[in-house]
Amino acid sequence: MKTGEIREAFLAYFDSNGHQRVPSSSLVPADDPTLLFTNAGMNQFKDVFLGAESRPYNRAVSAQRCVRAGGKHNDLENVGYTARHHTFFEMLGNFSFGDYFKREAIRFAWEFLTVNLGLPKEKLWVTVHISDDEAEKIWIEEIGFPAERISRLDEDNFWQMGDTGPCGPSSEVFYDHGEHVPGGPPGSPDDDLDRYIEIWNLVFMQYNRSADGEMTPLPKPSVDTGMGLERIAAILQGVHSNYEIDLFQALIKSAAEVVGTEEYAASSLRVIADHIRSTAFLVIDGVLPGNEGRSYVLRRIMRRAIRHGNKLGADSLFFYKLVATLVAQMGDFYPELSEQQSRIEDVIRGEEEQFARTLEQGMGILNEALAAMDGDVIPGDVVFKLYDTYGFPVDLTNDIARERNFSLDMPGYEAAMQAQRERSKEGGGFTVDYNSTLTLDGETTFTGYDQITGSGKVVALLRDSEQVPELNAGEHGVVILDQTPFYGESGGQAGDSGYLNGEGLRMEVGDTTKAQGHHLHHVKVLEGSVAVGDTLASEIDNELRQNTRLNHSATHLLHAALRNELGDHVAQKGSLVDGQRLRFDFSNPEAMTAEQVRAVEDSVNAQIRANSEVTTQVMSMDDAREAGAMALFGEKYGDEVRVLSMGEDRFSVELCGGTHVERTGDIGLLRILSEGGLASGVRRIEAVTGAHALREMRTVDDALANVCEVVRGTTENVSDKVAALRGQNRDLEKELARLKQKLASSAGSDITASAIEVDGVKVLATAVDGADSGSLRGIMDQCKNKIGSGVILLAAVNDDKVALVAGVTKDLTDRVRAGDLMREFAGRLGGKGGGRPDMAQGGGTEPALLPAALEAVPSWVKENLKA
Ligand code: ALA
Repeated sequence: MKTGEIREAFLAYFDSNGHQRVPSSSLVPADDPTLLFTNAGMNQFKDVFLGAESRPYNRAVSAQRCVRAGGKHNDLENVGYTARHHTFFEMLGNFSFGDYFKREAIRFAWEFLTVNLGLPKEKLWVTVHISDDEAEKIWIEEIGFPAERISRLDEDNFWQMGDTGPCGPSSEVFYDHGEHVPGGPPGSPDDDLDRYIEIWNLVFMQYNRSADGEMTPLPKPSVDTGMGLERIAAILQGVHSNYEIDLFQALIKSAAEVVGTEEYAASSLRVIADHIRSTAFLVIDGVLPGNEGRSYVLRRIMRRAIRHGNKLGADSLFFYKLVATLVAQMGDFYPELSEQQSRIEDVIRGEEEQFARTLEQGMGILNEALAAMDGDVIPGDVVFKLYDTYGFPVDLTNDIARERNFSLDMPGYEAAMQAQRERSKEGGGFTVDYNSTLTLDGETTFTGYDQITGSGKVVALLRDSEQVPELNAGEHGVVILDQTPFYGESGGQAGDSGYLNGEGLRMEVGDTTKAQGHHLHHVKVLEGSVAVGDTLASEIDNELRQNTRLNHSATHLLHAALRNELGDHVAQKGSLVDGQRLRFDFSNPEAMTAEQVRAVEDSVNAQIRANSEVTTQVMSMDDAREAGAMALFGEKYGDEVRVLSMGEDRFSVELCGGTHVERTGDIGLLRILSEGGLASGVRRIEAVTGAHALREMRTVDDALANVCEVVRGTTENVSDKVAALRGQNRDLEKELARLKQKLASSAGSDITASAIEVDGVKVLATAVDGADSGSLRGIMDQCKNKIGSGVILLAAVNDDKVALVAGVTKDLTDRVRAGDLMREFAGRLGGKGGGRPDMAQGGGTEPALLPAALEAVPSWVKENLKA
C-alpha cells in the first residue's frame, strides 16, 4: 500500500465507525502560546478535551501534519541518524470527546491493525501504564492478547502535550521488526534501538495539568490516539526504515539528483528529505525564516538541510528544487502545497541565497579564529559574534567544529549572550510595558497636527519605569508633558524624535510612545537637569516628521487603491510608517501579479498628481460610520474620531489619528519596492515616497549603469549580454572541471616515482602542482593503488595555504597511522589536521616551510614505525 492509500484507509475506517473527518489544522497553533508548533493530532481539540469548546460531533478522525522541532517534543537532532525520527510527520488519530473510552479505543486499534491492515498478531507488542490494570485486562481478556507480550511502564506510558494541558495514561502498540534488527522489547535495557518500534499511542485523556504540576480531572474521560503514518507505511511496505517508504525514496532520489551524488545511503540525504517537508509545510502555514521564535526554528531546519547538501557536494542552490517532488508526492492530499509551490520555492531560494552569503563571511571568520587558536575549544565570544553579527546558528558552528575536532565554549557563549541582553536593556528602557506600570491621571494634549514646536509643563518623570522628581545630565528616562507636538507611536505611525529644552537644559528625544493617553518622550539628558513642574520648549525633528507624513498619507491611498484593484476583501492587517518607508500588510489569498502591482502604483500616483486637498473632520463615531469611513483593526477609538478624506471623489475615507500631508501632491511619488507573502493569506507591500522614491530610482539606475559598464552593454542589450556570459561561464566551468580531473589522474601516475624505501616500507611525500584539497583525495587513492603498500603525504599550495592529505595503506595501519602523520606535519606548517588511521586531512598556513617538512617525512616514518 502506498502512503497515501494507508492514510485514506485509516480515515475511511473511522469514518465508517461514526467519526467525523476533520482536516489537518495549521502547523502554527491557533491561539496557543504554550505550543511552538502543532505536535500532535489532539492539539486542535485541546479546548474540546478541556470542556471549554464544544463541537457538533463527539468522535473525530484526522491525519494531522506535525512538526517536532524545538519545544517539548523535539526530534531535530535525531533526524538522519535513526530509522524513525522526523521533524515533519503525519499523525493519524481517532478521538473521542467524552464518548467512548478505553474499551472501544483498544478494540478499534486492534481491528484496524489486524483485520484492515492484516498485520500478523504475533508481531505486535503492547505497553500499558503501571497504574492501569483496567487497560491490561481489556487487552488480555477481551482482545485475547498474550500477557507475556505486555509491558507495564511508568513515564513512557503517560502522555502530555506540553508542560500544561490535557494528559493521561496511555497504551501503546509496538511492531517487532524481527531478530535481524538489534534492540529489545519496550521496558528492556536496549528498547531504544530500532527492533521494536512504537506505531500507535492510545491516550486515555483524564487530566488537565497546570503549570505547577497539579492534575485536575477533565470534565469527561476522552480518547486521543496517534499513529505515525510513515512508521506504519514502513511496516506495510516491508521495509525497516521510514526513509525506505515510497514517499521518502522519491524525495531521496531527487535530493541525490539535485546535489549531484550517487551515495543514496548517505544520512545527509535523509536529513534533506526530512527537512524539505517541514520547511515547505511551515512556509505554507505562514512561517518565514528569521531570527526569533518559530522563524528561527525554521531557519535552523533550512540551514541544516542546506549544509548537508553542501557536504554532499552541492555547489549551488538546490534545496528549493525539491519542492516539485514533494508536490508530486503529497499535493493530492494537501492542495495548498500545489497551490503555493512557487511561493515556497521563492522563500527557500531566498534563504539559500542569503545563507550562501552568510556562510562565506562566517566561514572566513571561523577559519581565521581556528587558525589563530592554541587549544581546541572555540572561544564563546567568537561563537556569539558569528551568531549575532552573521546569523550563523550555534548548532551550525558546532557542526563544523565537530567535523574538525574542535568544541565550543558554551558557557562563554551564554555569558556573551547575557551581556548583550543587559546592554540592550540599558539602551533606553523600551522593553518596559508602561501601559501596565504607569499610574498617572489625565492625558497629554497633542498639538502636533498643525505645529512642530510648542511648550509644555512636565507632569511626570520616569526612570526605569519608576516616577522620580528629577533627571540629571547623562541619565536616560521618560518625560511626560501636559501638551506636546511630539507624535506618540500609534496606528502604525512611528513616534517623533527631536529635542526638549529649558534654561541650561537640553534633552534628546530618541522616540515617543503612548501609554494610557500620555505621550512618553524617551530622552537622554544632554545638559543640565529637569524637574517635575518645569516648562520646556519642544522641537520635533521636522524632516523626519515631513517624510513620515508623506508615507502615512500614501498608505491611505495605497489601501484604497488595493481595494479598487483586488476587491473589498482586502483588509488592513498592520502597517508601519516612519521617515524612511511604509509597510502595509493586508489580507489577500494570493500573490499579486506584476500587472496588479503596477496598476496599484499607477492609481496612487494618479491621485498624487491630481493634488487634491486632504481634509480632516472630527465627528462622533456614529457619524463617521455613516460617512462610510473605514475603521482599522486593533485600534481603540474614543467617542470623537478624526475622519480623513483624501483623493478625488472621496478616493479614501478612513479614521485616523496620524499626521498627514495637506495636499496629495506633497507626496511627490510613490514607488512600490516589494510585494510578498507574510503569513497564509496575508501579503506585505513595502514602498517609498517623495525624496526617498527618487533616491531609490537613482540607486537602480546606478546599479544598471554599473552592470552595463562591466559587460560593455547598453540598457537595451544588457540582459542578452548577461545571459550570454552566464552561458559561457557554465561551459568554462565544465571544461575546467574536466581538465582538473585529467590533471589529477596524470599527476597520480607520475608522482609515485619519487617514493623511497624506509625499513622496507615505501614512503612518498610530495607536493602536487595545480591540485587543491578536493583533488588531493582522488590523487591519494591513485597513489595508494599504484604503490600497493606504503605511507604517503601529499600537499598542495594555494595562495598562502597548504592543503595536506595523509594516507597509509590498510596493511600498514597497525604500524603507523595517517592521523598521527597528519597531526605532526600540519603542526609543523602552522596548522591542524586529523582523521582515520588510513586517511587524514588537514592544512597549514606556512607554505615556506613545506619543502623542509616533506623532506623530513621519511625520518619521521622511520622513528614512528612500529615493528
Ligand atoms: N497525542 C498522542 C501522541 O502524540 C497520541 O502520541
